[in-house]
Amino acid sequence: MIDDRGSDSASSLPTGARMWPSKRYAEIHQRSLQDPERFWAEEARKLDWYKTWDRVLDWDPPYARWFVGGRINACYQCVDRHVQTWRKSKVAIYWEGETGETRVLSYSTLFREVNRFASILQKLGIKKGDRVAIYLSMVPELPIFMLACARIGAVHTVIFSGFSAHAIADRVNDIQARVLITADGAYRRGKILALKEIVDEAVKLSPSVEKIVVVRRTGEKVPMKEGRDFYLSSLLDDADRMVKPEPMESTHPLYILYTSGTTGKPKGVVHGTGGYLVFNHSAYKWVFDIREESVYWCTADVGWVTGHSSIVYAPLSHGAAIVLYDGAPDYPTVERWWDIVEKYGVSIFYTSPTAIRMFMRHGEERLLKHDFSSLELLGSVGEPINPEAWYWYYKNIGKERCPIVDTWWQTETGGTMLSPTPGIESIPLKPGSAAFPLPGVDAAVVDAEGNELLPGQTGLLIIRKPWPGMLLDIYGDPQRYKDSYWSRFPGSYYTGDFAMRDEDGYFWLLGRADEVLKVAGHRIGTAELEDAAVSHPAVAEAAVASKPDEVKGDSIVLFVTLKDDASPSSDLKQEIGKHLRNVIGPIATPDEVHFVDSLPKTRSGKIMRRVLKALALGQSPGDLTTLEDEASVEDAKKGLRNNEEDVRHR
Ligand code: WTA
Repeated sequence: MIDDRGSDSASSLPTGARMWPSKRYAEIHQRSLQDPERFWAEEARKLDWYKTWDRVLDWDPPYARWFVGGRINACYQCVDRHVQTWRKSKVAIYWEGETGETRVLSYSTLFREVNRFASILQKLGIKKGDRVAIYLSMVPELPIFMLACARIGAVHTVIFSGFSAHAIADRVNDIQARVLITADGAYRRGKILALKEIVDEAVKLSPSVEKIVVVRRTGEKVPMKEGRDFYLSSLLDDADRMVKPEPMESTHPLYILYTSGTTGKPKGVVHGTGGYLVFNHSAYKWVFDIREESVYWCTADVGWVTGHSSIVYAPLSHGAAIVLYDGAPDYPTVERWWDIVEKYGVSIFYTSPTAIRMFMRHGEERLLKHDFSSLELLGSVGEPINPEAWYWYYKNIGKERCPIVDTWWQTETGGTMLSPTPGIESIPLKPGSAAFPLPGVDAAVVDAEGNELLPGQTGLLIIRKPWPGMLLDIYGDPQRYKDSYWSRFPGSYYTGDFAMRDEDGYFWLLGRADEVLKVAGHRIGTAELEDAAVSHPAVAEAAVASKPDEVKGDSIVLFVTLKDDASPSSDLKQEIGKHLRNVIGPIATPDEVHFVDSLPKTRSGKIMRRVLKALALGQSPGDLTTLEDEASVEDAKKGLRNNEEDVRHR
């Protein structure tokens, strides 16, 4: 049953994809919170352990350590376990490149490759606990290297292939990686992205890197430095065929993944091994109802947490067949994704609201010739999905047959926290709501003082109990870990999201409550953008406001004051935009740049972004009593007007 209470869509209720209400979810959820340790121990027994845990949970707030004393290996869970069964001949990965090439890897092929890659890492001197940086597009070598790291107990840091040299260097320096893995290039919309050259720039700033492994993808000739750079193919010649998986402490880090927060420096979110695997293994079954015959495609990039958990660790731990596509969604045409769904008979399709809205723009006509009959379940992640996009997805892709799971989670949570759970039992769906917390997740909506709010009231989302997928720490910065998540509501995890719970108990996620934007589903902090902007020689000060964008969710609006010797021009605006791309990457490209004489600030010198945001939206700036200099508001208005003129004259 579909219930659109709370949605602002005027569409009539669709009749298909009925999910019947049941008490089963409520019973499991209640049981899980009454005795979480017992509940999670039962879940953990679904995985293979070298040694079972001594204690399910050590909770020394704000640090939770799960399955303490237990030993487990993530690569073993995702690969070895399956090759001991009939799944050895099952497809693990259907890979397709933008230029049309395909590769199909069975679990036994994956096993062979993972062993050889692990041997390469060992021969390069990588040992348990060492950090390895991976900067690759969506080639099969990416998950293989991740699993190879996990096999020998090395900690991987995947850096999204859209990041610039500076962004790579920041991350590599933070983890002091000695080995970096990249490719000669990547294809994106028919063009070649020169990954190796970007890496060469990055390592000039990262002296810790001793060895670079280069995967051949484009076959282009790239500069190779003797003694430092090695082609993967030549290293494979000497690789051993078998490397024993390391029985890792459950609490040992599995990976570090950087994400934006409210300061200029990205946070290295550290995830553990046992708890992370247990949480993802269970959540994946509950949310996607994964079955042996499922063909599962998550369109995210492995460079984000969605790719780590929902492409690599959770699906492979179930022995699922996954699709991996290395290319742009609209290349060579906007039908590329639908060709892939048809070709591989995808049954579970998981994407972002931004992607859905992009396809909405292109209309329904093109979809009519595609066969979507293999689809059974659809998913959405990364941003709030507006009911209009939800209905469009439901109708045009799911053909009113497929339920949609709107999954809310974060890099820090490791796996899905709120979502419908068809793998437990169906519930009525409400378009735009992420439904209920998963078993073991104790979510609440509270006011600024931490009091739980009544149904219908908007507040902040918190999690009141630790859960096994919870981050271990912020790498090298425990204070930031405490400050970001645990200081606001002591004893509870603060998500940074606004939320509302309706009278039926459904959660509605209403966007970030902090200075973090979601641009096309990618998380990016205003402080990070501002730091990058002021590193341009002409910029004195910068402030970022976001503006809703019909497709991307948030768009970036940058206000800058210039240094005395710089003169405003539309060329300079372009140059500043380009500078942000160079420092961070294309996702940081501002949609608007405005020059102002001063920025609105409080008397204590804090930039009032809310004022800028209101002005960018053409709204009243609201309460200005704490503003230091009222002229700054007029300045900002003038900057916006000038910009309109610029646009008109362009
Ligand atoms: C947002 C992505 C509404 C939210 C897995 C969160 C969502 C941030 C949803 C984390 C959803 C993610 N509905 N908002 N279904 N999923 N978000 O770390 O603001 O890239 O805090 O993790 O994305 O982004 P991250």
